[in-house]
Amino acid sequence: MPYLELIGLQTHFPVRKGILFKSITDHVRAVDGVDLAIEQGEILGLVGESGCGKSTLSRTVMQLVPATGGRVILDGEDLTALSHREVRLRRLDFQMIFQDPYASLNPRMTVFSTLAEALRTRNPQLKGSQLTDEVSSLMERVGLDRRFMRKYPHEFSGGQRQRIAIARALAPQPKLVIADEPVSALDVSIQSQILNLLKQLVRELGLTMIFISHDLSVVRYIADRIAVMHFGKIVELGAAERVMDSPEHDYTKQLLAAIPQIRP
Ligand SMILES: Nc1ncnc2c1ncn2[C@@H]1O[C@H](COP(=O)(O)OP(=O)(O)OP(=O)(O)O)[C@@H](O)[C@H]1O
Ligand SMILES: [Mg+2]
Repeated sequence: MPYLELIGLQTHFPVRKGILFKSITDHVRAVDGVDLAIEQGEILGLVGESGCGKSTLSRTVMQLVPATGGRVILDGEDLTALSHREVRLRRLDFQMIFQDPYASLNPRMTVFSTLAEALRTRNPQLKGSQLTDEVSSLMERVGLDRRFMRKYPHEFSGGQRQRIAIARALAPQPKLVIADEPVSALDVSIQSQILNLLKQLVRELGLTMIFISHDLSVVRYIADRIAVMHFGKIVELGAAERVMDSPEHDYTKQLLAAIPQIRP
């Protein structure tokens, strides 16, 4: 049984026109009938050009945006059939990492408070030295020195901030992590460190990951399989090397041809 299964998933947004009597004139079909099965422990790379619906797909999986059709089955349970309260509890099992850690971290909270808050979503009774120990081991896991615990986000570099955001995502012990362009805002030299960290965490913690990027070389490096999205639909799906080396769909070929080449 796959860990995450999307069946005919649809997310359409209404387009409203008119000044006084806003009427729905059309729909943006951001996600338009996606079928996808992801195995436990797998890293699935999701690629496609800007606006094709990658973020909307991930937000729909997380139940942050309601699906207009289809189903999201996580570990055998249909999330689209759950109440808001049940979804909130289940949401601890799936976490997100975003492109810009500076925007996603609270600038007024130290690393300690950020991670402590995230740890207590799963374990509200954690406190005192036990809490400090848990924060330290989380920091260690993502390669941050525990002495930085009382520092604020602005005191870190971009790569370190993304490590804090990763630690925060791991704090509630999720099973599924959706990383939406997690290295796109980072220097190339820092990108590979963060990619290696994510790979290592997936292996060590047995996580399942959807890794979203518009950068095919990044996706190829980290993903086991690649799904290519175009206008809300998955047009190609296969093992990472196969999709990169012998793409079958015309759109995938176009995407690959669009990678800039430097001639010797
Ligand atoms: N809340 C919303 N209301 C209306 N339209 C939306 C909403 N969110 C997204 N859209 C539209 O859905 C489409 C898909 O957007 P989405 O952000 O999912 O694309 P994306 O693939 O993540 O793009 P990018 O690579 O730029 O992040 C776009 O046309 C966008 O304008
Ligand atoms: Mg996006």
